[in-house]
Amino acid sequence: MKKAVENLLETACRVLSGLQDDPKAFELARVRFLGRKGELAQLFKELGKVSEQERREAGRLLNEAKSRLETLFSEALDKRRELDAARRESIDVSVPGRRPPAGRLHPITQTATEICRIFNWLGFETVEGPEIELDYYNFEALNIPKDHPARDMQDTFYISEDVVLRTHTSPIQVRTMEKRKPPVRVIAPGRTYRRDSDVTHTPMFHQVEGLMVGKGISFGDLKGILTTFVHQMFGPSVGLRFRPSFFPFTEPSAEVDIECVMCRGKGCRVCKGTGWLEILGSGMVDPEVYKYVGYDPEEITGFAFGMGIERIAMLKFGIDDLRLFFENDLRFLKQF
Ligand code: DAH
Repeated sequence: MKKAVENLLETACRVLSGLQDDPKAFELARVRFLGRKGELAQLFKELGKVSEQERREAGRLLNEAKSRLETLFSEALDKRRELDAARRESIDVSVPGRRPPAGRLHPITQTATEICRIFNWLGFETVEGPEIELDYYNFEALNIPKDHPARDMQDTFYISEDVVLRTHTSPIQVRTMEKRKPPVRVIAPGRTYRRDSDVTHTPMFHQVEGLMVGKGISFGDLKGILTTFVHQMFGPSVGLRFRPSFFPFTEPSAEVDIECVMCRGKGCRVCKGTGWLEILGSGMVDPEVYKYVGYDPEEITGFAFGMGIERIAMLKFGIDDLRLFFENDLRFLKQF
């Protein structure tokens, strides 16, 4: 009996250590040794055949073997569970990575960058100015005194008597000339604000201001630079025209129209049948403005221009609703 018990334990150990972590094989082994009809039970049955003198000793051996087997199996089970848990927590380096979603620039930012890039290429330096602006820079020094009717053109957000949210980027002209001696060639993008809100106006929008002043700069330079810009921005075949206009800070003044990008000048809903779209205001800097910044109007001439970035972006990308720029709907923004 002793020999049989030893054999049984030895076999059980070997089987257990040879088990891969297959739960089915593990259960089969358990039944084989510890089951009701298993090998151990078989030995217990044989106890009856053992002589009286030896039975006590044989019984003790069998009971010991039973508890030894149970320990072996429960230890093996614990070990398997540990391994399983470890495997679940470990990182599988062979799984393909998840790509982080790529962001992109807002179409307004893209358009502003493109406008500045073209003017940088033409020798203009990019500068900026404050959005909360003094009445002096926003109006006064641009030849728009306090009760000038031209102030009605721009519904202003007043912060106090003397402080406003800038209604255009033109004050940057004045700030730049105040700080620098001519010649000056700058391009200035930024946010602007007006008390206006409907389908075609938002209280905050964007403009780019340009300024080129120095000795001997003429209206011919204005036409040349702005024509080059339009051809770079909208393609060399697009038609453009300079149309007389008025701004208090330029004389003479001109607005630039381009051939309608939707109908190619034939006349449609977007250009209201005219075939033309206005894209910017411009003119020769008024001598009055030079007086505010200490330039000599007898010596210095130059031109300035300003344009709305939303408008340029709408024409460039064929967008027909201004509000799309401000809703931040990803389905819209992802297209650019
Ligand atoms: N500031 C003008 C506006 O907001 C645009 C403008 C027109 C700017 C003529 C200029 C200019 O510099 O010369 O409508």
